[in-house]
Amino acid sequence: MCVWFERLGLAGNVTASRSRLALAFATAPVELLQEVLRRLRAKGEVVAAERAACQEVIEKDPDLTALPVHLQHGLDGAPYISASVDITRDEERGVTNVGMRRLMLRGRREAGIDLNAPSDLRAIYQASVKRGARLPIAFVVGSHPIDHVAATMRLPGDELELIAALRGAPLPVVKCVTNDLRVPADAEFVLEGYLDERGYVEPEGPYGEFLGYYGAVKTNPVFHLTAITHRKDAVFQTSTISGRTLSRTDTAQLNALRAEVSVWRALETAVRGAKAVYATPSSGGAFNVRVAMEARVAGEARNAIAAVFGCLVNVKHVFVVDPDVDIFSDEQMDWALATRFQADRDLVVEGGFRTVPLDPSLAGKTTTAKAGFDLTLPGKVAIPGPARLEGRRFDSVERALTDGPKFFHELMAARGSRDGREIVRELENMRARLGRDEEGRYLLK
Ligand SMILES: Cc1cc2nc3c(=O)[nH]c(=O)nc-3n(C[C@H](O)[C@H](O)[C@H](O)COP(=O)(O)O)c2cc1C
Repeated sequence: MCVWFERLGLAGNVTASRSRLALAFATAPVELLQEVLRRLRAKGEVVAAERAACQEVIEKDPDLTALPVHLQHGLDGAPYISASVDITRDEERGVTNVGMRRLMLRGRREAGIDLNAPSDLRAIYQASVKRGARLPIAFVVGSHPIDHVAATMRLPGDELELIAALRGAPLPVVKCVTNDLRVPADAEFVLEGYLDERGYVEPEGPYGEFLGYYGAVKTNPVFHLTAITHRKDAVFQTSTISGRTLSRTDTAQLNALRAEVSVWRALETAVRGAKAVYATPSSGGAFNVRVAMEARVAGEARNAIAAVFGCLVNVKHVFVVDPDVDIFSDEQMDWALATRFQADRDLVVEGGFRTVPLDPSLAGKTTTAKAGFDLTLPGKVAIPGPARLEGRRFDSVERALTDGPKFFHELMAARGSRDGREIVRELENMRARLGRDEEGRYLLK
């Protein structure tokens, strides 16, 4: 559920469902990945904004504690800003980097930023610390939902252009008032400032992390606020992260889409017949990945498993099914695991992979095991479903069978029967001359 606290001017959980993400891309949930892949093929255009809505108000005395920021999980170190899309310049590559990073309030103009995990921003920041320089940064809070999707992708190139490509429209930007960074002009709030040159110096955390557990206190860089600009009627935004029901969090839904893009691209080169990919949001949006594919030659499902193991650090378990199984259905996946899997034949287990330290089952280990479940069936199977009463009509069951052996539903169709009881009676009358073939068709002896 998306929530809007009207009196506070705060919206939450905006991207926390696949159907809402699909709505942002003007498509259906099952088409979402293909729509994102389609938009990624275009080059985005960044243009100077004629009107900068995000600078309608420039706060004279900027104060992080004046914003509707709240304590998100019981043991968090302080209130956090979580829907914060960070924008920086990578001077070495000459591109703008966009990501999402949480901010732990530590004062009116100071906050901790979590910059531990490998990321482009971490590399950009480490290079600027090496030069002994501050890194200008702007956090956009309250932005188009597609900007959050772009921010979670880690692709080479200018990521303002990536936002434009994913939005499917030119992106109007405006220069910040206290630095030279350009930000989407239609944002609700922009928090301008810099990360200081001291590097990793202050404790940050604990915080409810994206796998559903608290993370430890980390040593992290410091953000200093230099300006807050916003719309006149601005709505602040918060993102949901942790707890037991990850599928209803912004983080898991965004992570899932990002994982699916990486997995799809890896499968495109590793195997031919990938049909659909789903990273389950309930596993954090990458730990459990489902693939539907046409495995045309022996071993292809295992090739897919190996490709998915390697394409993303966060993937831990891969489930490969035939295209007849709906990978968005937990029920059908449970059925496939129960009935299409032999543990001594179809399980692939490998260990020693790089991982994220937030998985509590690692119990202190720094590498992880990965498992692949090959749920594809070697031969074709018929799945029971409703009868389709189609085919030629005959004036009697006997005439229909003279035409050739027929399944019961074909006899029903031949006689225009609604439920088959009159066919049973006709067959009873012919019992002595009636036979069945191996597949169960009725025939005349
Ligand atoms: C709501 C949300 C909050 C996030 N917070 C953080 C964070 O605090 N620290 C971090 O390293 N990654 C965080 N991430 C993941 C990064 O945004 C993601 O890895 C991104 O691709 C990094 O971008 P970059 O490599 O271009 O810098 C968060 C993701 C989401 C969806």
